[in-house]
Amino acid sequence: MRAIIFDLDGVLVSTDHFHDDAWRALARRLKISFDETACRRLRGVSQMAALELVLEQSPRRYTAAEKEALAAEKNTAYRAHIAGMTPADVADSTRTTLRSLKRRGLLLAVGSSSKNARFILEQTALTSYFDAIVDGNEITRSKPDPEVFLKAAAKLDVSPAEALVVEDAAAGIRAARSGGFQSAALGPDAAEEGLASHQIQNLADLLALV
Ligand code: BG6
Ligand code: MG
Repeated sequence: MRAIIFDLDGVLVSTDHFHDDAWRALARRLKISFDETACRRLRGVSQMAALELVLEQSPRRYTAAEKEALAAEKNTAYRAHIAGMTPADVADSTRTTLRSLKRRGLLLAVGSSSKNARFILEQTALTSYFDAIVDGNEITRSKPDPEVFLKAAAKLDVSPAEALVVEDAAAGIRAARSGGFQSAALGPDAAEEGLASHQIQNLADLLALV
């Protein structure tokens, strides 16, 4: 193993509740039902793909321009939440683990579907830990497509077989698998389909895997 590619939301930071709040507010305004199951389906998928999943519950059809405006509305609400993030929003054990992995000579990358990934990494002072970052602005296909992880591996100059993907979402584990990566499922959602190479309970468990 030469490299580790981390998902961001739900793995390095906890921003999912901010996504949920922002989508819930939009769904409420549009009078669309939106519950916990709906929240979980949006994990790991891109902003526009997530919007399509939210709008599935609506009898109304939206034009491409309307969808752009709805995605922007959600993103504004989401960014208002993440603008308040600070380095204190990253667990000490996360920083310690990243440092230990680097000391062992592993290359580290972020592979996130989020267009806001770089903003979150800056807010939380995580950027400097990573040798490569691929975010939602650099991909055309959302997880479960492996594009984001393949691009991260290419930036690190390693093959998929030499990299471990760490994910909290089922879509991310599927993406890792179809790209030829080993994967570590963090938490129950990622482990649910039984497709991950490893299951971990917290990031420090990675130290025993690599
Ligand atoms: C992923 C989240 O990291 O990013 C998804 O798990 C989210 O829930 C996706 O839809 C896109 O994020 P953004 O910041 O581009 O809206
Ligand atoms: Mg995630």
